[in-house]
Amino acid sequence: MDRKLVIPSLFFAAIAVIFVASAVKPSDKASLKMIMDLLRIPQTLERFKTGNEVEYQSHDLRVLKFSWHNCGSADDPVKVKDVTLTPDPVKLPGEVKTGFTAQLLKTVDKPIKAALVIKKKVLFAWIEVPCVDSVGSCTYTDLCAKIPGKPTDACPPPLSTYNIPCHCPFKAGNYTLPPSNFDLPSIGSLPEWLEEGDYSVQATISSNSTRLACYRAELSLTK
Ligand SMILES: *[C@@H]1O[C@H](CO)[C@@H](O)[C@H](O)[C@H]1NC(C)=O
Ligand SMILES: *[C@@H]1O[C@H](CO)[C@@H](O)[C@H](O)[C@H]1NC(C)=O
Repeated sequence: MDRKLVIPSLFFAAIAVIFVASAVKPSDKASLKMIMDLLRIPQTLERFKTGNEVEYQSHDLRVLKFSWHNCGSADDPVKVKDVTLTPDPVKLPGEVKTGFTAQLLKTVDKPIKAALVIKKKVLFAWIEVPCVDSVGSCTYTDLCAKIPGKPTDACPPPLSTYNIPCHCPFKAGNYTLPPSNFDLPSIGSLPEWLEEGDYSVQATISSNSTRLACYRAELSLTK
């Protein structure tokens, strides 16, 4: 594109994105389709943008590497630390290597509620991924019931290798998963909005209206 046209066209594209994102009520079918189409557009990762493309962006909107934050309080009974995720960006399909340390100050049992908010960076705006067929920014009221298998079933490796429980209840204690490989496509069929781009994922876990933990991660996906 002609260099002189880059700034005006980026400007109008940004206005269009912000307009669509703010006007849309995902409850109506046509708008939902519009949001999904927007989310399906592969985006240049922030870290690979240069010059004019980044000039007008606020710094805190940019995802330059995998990062991880506590969005709850330091007193929450479930503390997750030392989260690692490689490769960065995550390649789809592919394999990721992830590890963490979790400290459960109390035993966590049903009902466990999980509220997910997933956003994708589209040009200059964060667009929330709607909850469609229980995938996206969804709230799951009973996480224990969502876990496949019987509570007596053995957990698959590498969880079993490191004595990490995968059924309710999760007993109080410390759990460490050293960086381990997971095959991404084996998680299930991937949703179609999951395209190249920068993402923000926030999970709030609570039980009987008491927050157990809230964490937010920024990560990038590539094909
Ligand atoms: C769990 O880890 C914390 C922080 O590393 C430590 O203070 C605590 O003693 C550990 N608890 C157990 C039961 O090992
Ligand atoms: C949640 O509330 C129910 C009903 O009041 C109670 O039976 C259950 O033990 C509570 N669970 C937890 C984990 O506090």
